[in-house]
Amino acid sequence: MKSAVFYQCKHCGNLVALIGTGGGTLTCCGDPMVQLQANVTDAAQEKHVPVARMENGRLIVEVGSVAHPMAAEHYIEWIALEDGDRLEIVKLNPGDKPCAEFVYHPAEANEEIFAGENDEIVPNCEGNPCNFVYREKVGSHAVVYAYCNLHGLWKAEL
Ligand SMILES: [Fe+2]
Repeated sequence: MKSAVFYQCKHCGNLVALIGTGGGTLTCCGDPMVQLQANVTDAAQEKHVPVARMENGRLIVEVGSVAHPMAAEHYIEWIALEDGDRLEIVKLNPGDKPCAEFVYHPAEANEEIFAGENDEIVPNCEGNPCNFVYREKVGSHAVVYAYCNLHGLWKAEL
């Protein structure tokens, strides 16, 4: 999947994530929808740029390094994780913490480990049995997004 793209209607506020690209123009309320740009609103970065950390095998995303307000008139509407071919969105409500949890496997280089009893032992290039196997790690180039109802889209790359 290419990078996530979000569009919003400037009239009614409808907001969509594009999950397939057909090339046409998205319209709503009779006008083309506007593609959201991240981190361009003049607002406090520390309250909007999402901050991610791993905790007990989960990715915890908070908005931001100083907690964003979660009042009805000003709050983080959703937080999203884009990880390779996966886009997961968690919707929030006023009164919630500006925080979301995701299952996430951080990107790392493939690792070489000793073969276990369930691994197939195959000859190496010299024809000798190889007791190492490669494990492929999941995930790459993950991005976390946050959307403020007043200050728009924000993102951070992991
Ligand atoms: Fe805000």
